[in-house]
Amino acid sequence: MTTYSLLILPGDGIGPEVMAEVRKVIGWFEKSRGLSFDVSEDLVGGAAYDKYGKPLADETMAKAQAVDAVLLGAVGGPKYDNLDFSVKPERGLLRLRKEMDLFANLRPAQCFDALADFSSLKREVVAGLDILIVRELTSGVYFGEPRGIHADDNNPDNEGGRVGVNTQRYTSGEIRRVARSAFELARKRSNRVCSMEKANVMESGILWREEVQWVHDNEYPDVELSHMYADNGAMQLVRNPRQFDVIVTDNLFGDILSDAAAMLTGSLGMLPSASLGAPMANGRPKALYEPVHGSAPDIAGQGKANPIACILSFAMCLRYSFGLGAEADLLEKAVERVLADGVRTGDLMGAEGGKPVSTAEMGDHIVAALSAL
Ligand code: NAD
Ligand code: IPM
Ligand code: MN
Repeated sequence: MTTYSLLILPGDGIGPEVMAEVRKVIGWFEKSRGLSFDVSEDLVGGAAYDKYGKPLADETMAKAQAVDAVLLGAVGGPKYDNLDFSVKPERGLLRLRKEMDLFANLRPAQCFDALADFSSLKREVVAGLDILIVRELTSGVYFGEPRGIHADDNNPDNEGGRVGVNTQRYTSGEIRRVARSAFELARKRSNRVCSMEKANVMESGILWREEVQWVHDNEYPDVELSHMYADNGAMQLVRNPRQFDVIVTDNLFGDILSDAAAMLTGSLGMLPSASLGAPMANGRPKALYEPVHGSAPDIAGQGKANPIACILSFAMCLRYSFGLGAEADLLEKAVERVLADGVRTGDLMGAEGGKPVSTAEMGDHIVAALSAL
């Protein structure tokens, strides 16, 4: 029997709370479907800083490189706001992404029918929505050099005397590989890719557009490709999101556009993600799965967090890392069933009112739905 190795990094804030519900789901698949997981757990973010003085220990990094897949909750929180930049919780997550070379971040935004009235947009705009944002994750302004904060010498006109610098930098190879991921995924969906950049103001945007077009013309001429400026893209996402199938974009634009897309689906607490790298020896990609949301300090420790984003991230893990598509479908159906039954965490409470369930109760409902399907 295949045993799948998993490293769980719950992290900070609501991270451990939502991950406890994923543990229940993993337990269900072991007990009821005979799957075998070798699960280990470790610290990341503020929790790792508290113990090791850095947001990701080298031993944890080595473990992440060795397992079939990593599941991460969330990192960060006000307690760590004043830490030196190099040891902030977010640096732990960025190190994992960079050193595992997880260049393709898949952020699907699907509107479950039961939540269509809860979106901040009208039902007729979001009903049936199913888009996939493919965000480049290991380059761009997040990692470009030079970067830093330094004195602005020889500039007496600069009040305060300092400069903050970040560099948007992309190589053609970085653009081509993430473009290929987007085209491959589009072929399994509605076969359309919209690439977003700011080629009207940024040279890196011109290169982005040219290279995506090159990959299309040479390798994926059967996929429909369009280009859009990212600011217009943000507007179009809110105006008529269903015009899109796959959106491919850079690290920073992808961060922002995927939070906007989250709200189309009803709540940030619903959005899963997969961060994929190049295939390993077993043919599966290096991978980390995490909800799109953060550590939600405003509701942490209160049992209010919606665990669905994290549970759906595990469904993506079943599909992309373990090749268990039927099991992934089953888990997604269980979530859909629970929502259709009107079960809601606080973030999903709309005008209809009712009593929200806790994080743990939502997890229990999903496990019960798995058994009932
Ligand atoms: P956030 O996503 O943590 O929260 C934004 C809002 O959404 C909050 O009102 C929160 O209560 C709500 N929310 C988020 N997830 C929810 C869930 N599962 N259920 C119910 N409500 C939910 O974003 P933020 O407040 O900008 O950031 C807080 C901290 O998290 C910061 O330190 C930030 O750097 C970090 N962060 C981490 C990640 C990550 O680990 N991948 C992602 C985003 C932000
Ligand atoms: C995300 C987060 C991260 C990002 C932070 C926490 C580093 O916002 O995963 O979307 O900006 O990529
Ligand atoms: Mn983000």
